[in-house]
Amino acid sequence: MKRIFFLSLILALALTADAKKKQSVPPYKDPSLSVETRVVDLMSRMTLHEKIAQLNQYTLGRNDNVNNIDEVVSKIPSEVGSLIYFGDGADLRNAMQKKAMEETRLGIPILFGFDVIHGFRTVYPIPLALGASWNPELAGEACRVAAQEAYDAGINWTFSPMVDIARDARWGRIAEGYGEDPYLTSVFSAASVKAYQGDDLSQPYNIAACLKHYVGYGASEAGRDYVPTEISRQTLWDTYLPSFEAGVRAGAATLMSSFNNISGIPGSANHYTMTEVLKEKWGHDGFVVADWNAVVQLVNQGMAKDGKEAAMYAINAGLDMDMVDNLYMEHLEALVNEGKVPMERVNDAVRRVLTLKFRLGLFENPYTEEKPENERILLPASLEVAERAALESMVLLKNENNVLPLKSGQKIALIGPLARNQEDLLGSWFGRGRAEDVISIFDGLSEESGIAVSYAAGCDFDGDDKSGFQEAVNVASQADVVVLCLGEKRKWSGENASRSTIALPSIQEELLAEIVKAGKPVVVLLSNGRSLDLTRISPAADAVLEIWQPGVMGGKAVAGILTGKYNPSGRLNVTFPYTTGQIPVYYNHRESGRRGSQGLYQDIPSTPMYEFGYGLSYTTYDYGEVTVSADRFTAEDRITAKVTVTNSGEMDGKETVQWYICDPYSTITRPVKELKFFEKKLIPAGDSHTFEFEIDPMRDLSFVNGEGERFLEPGDYYIIVKDQKVKITLAD
Ligand code: NOJ
Repeated sequence: MKRIFFLSLILALALTADAKKKQSVPPYKDPSLSVETRVVDLMSRMTLHEKIAQLNQYTLGRNDNVNNIDEVVSKIPSEVGSLIYFGDGADLRNAMQKKAMEETRLGIPILFGFDVIHGFRTVYPIPLALGASWNPELAGEACRVAAQEAYDAGINWTFSPMVDIARDARWGRIAEGYGEDPYLTSVFSAASVKAYQGDDLSQPYNIAACLKHYVGYGASEAGRDYVPTEISRQTLWDTYLPSFEAGVRAGAATLMSSFNNISGIPGSANHYTMTEVLKEKWGHDGFVVADWNAVVQLVNQGMAKDGKEAAMYAINAGLDMDMVDNLYMEHLEALVNEGKVPMERVNDAVRRVLTLKFRLGLFENPYTEEKPENERILLPASLEVAERAALESMVLLKNENNVLPLKSGQKIALIGPLARNQEDLLGSWFGRGRAEDVISIFDGLSEESGIAVSYAAGCDFDGDDKSGFQEAVNVASQADVVVLCLGEKRKWSGENASRSTIALPSIQEELLAEIVKAGKPVVVLLSNGRSLDLTRISPAADAVLEIWQPGVMGGKAVAGILTGKYNPSGRLNVTFPYTTGQIPVYYNHRESGRRGSQGLYQDIPSTPMYEFGYGLSYTTYDYGEVTVSADRFTAEDRITAKVTVTNSGEMDGKETVQWYICDPYSTITRPVKELKFFEKKLIPAGDSHTFEFEIDPMRDLSFVNGEGERFLEPGDYYIIVKDQKVKITLAD
């Protein structure tokens, strides 16, 4: 009896202790509760000052971007929503996080963000190149590598993917996006978001994505960065918003507001885009972060008279977090007290930011395990993904007399400013990548081809020093084939890197002209972050291979293609104009009132040099007849279009079937053709594959009006595959 009494006493005491302990842990720290409950509880404990702190982002670490330049920073408050983290490993970040967790009243973890645009340390091809792979799964694999390396360095949030549609290659930031087409970019947008974030943000190696730059930044006038854009509501909806909507539907946790003025209302103070469209129409429950200093720039843009007014416009328009300029920190409290910013708006923004922190599991796992480099960066499996991404993104533009692939035993002269270069193959925004990680074309080729490669630089990227020409011609004369590596330096594209012409500097064109005189077949390799004006290059070369800025495995991938180990399968995702003067030139333009021979340029052809979707292979693909399961149907029906493609050459290859539709007459006129679906498949030599496109009329044939409403009109449509055009009719 005594014993039972004693045991019950112990049990009762234990239960009370447990209950007490539970009581002392506030609900927001209890992971068994829902995120919503935890956010409500935490916010009920926060002062206005603590709330506002969550809406600010500072930087931590040394940053070299001229526009972002900052050292770290002792003045960083421990109570802060987020930091842009410029670090190679997690140590500095953990030290800062400790301050937030242990030295602040509520212990709210900091969210660490960084521009992991095409890799963290394992730099893979620039996004423009990835788009040219037409392989969103592969882009996703690359994003997974980036997420893993970033996560291990303490980053929870990447400012990627950049899904701006760009049709003016003078704009240097064309390099950062997936090209000119809304559909292709939408597919890559969704694939990147899913790859970065995984199914559950709280799991290791999943990081939050950020769709940017919301919205219309790519429409920058004359290709100049940061300048205003003129975008009608119609164009906003049919061209610039779809890639963002696709990313939001894929679950993107955040978006970044853009620098550009959108027809009078800057992106970072635009209530229509950030609140009415994003949050109300699409129901986005994440948050919008400003681009760097975008809030204070509202003053320069001629909207706000000072920083305080800028903060007011931005937050009231729906911009939740201020990047770097500290204007929310400085002015929001006063703005709320003066009744100029509703408290509900502040609460809404704070709720959004805290929700992401809970979803990421930061309250439970605020710190990052500090691992040695050899366990987290440049891992063999990551390099393998980077190599495949480089291989699949390269586009063979020309191949006269089958100069490529190179034949075994051929003596190769490797010439040009990019031949032994490592740094410029990285491209812009290379995270924490390093030039020494990059396999140069020279190294890749000498290792892969197993034959001696003779080399001469010939000239630099620009300038007028021709003193190296003669040596280059000598080297060319002694070879069987010349591989001439031309292109751009990495800083010629990316942010704040516009060019008035997209031709290469004339010194490079002149080098080509000299080399041609040696009378040997010339293969031109192009490494660049935009489409180029090849008027004087393409006709002079026997073969042209666009390698973009291919990242660390670039040289090895080039060797794989040149030697024929890999059959090129990239296709252009941007139009290559005939000359810069054709810009803007893109495939999905609307029809002219006078077709045929009128309205054309008098001095140059009016068609581009290489069109969207173009790209050669070492094999040949024969397309059978495109068939449809029904040529008359209703809006509720689904019809299937099919085409069988045969690899009639001698090399295995990957072919991408591109399905376009055309609606020739519509109450809102539509582009001449619109990409609606694509699929890339390996077809072994001699084999065939039947590609299918199931058409859902509302999804694939409808159009959108300037209010964002989709409509579907009865009548004739065409399915276009290569040079075939098949009529289908949507019945009344
Ligand atoms: C400015 C750039 O426009 C943006 O893309 C980038 O994410 C931020 N700086 C942060 O570095």
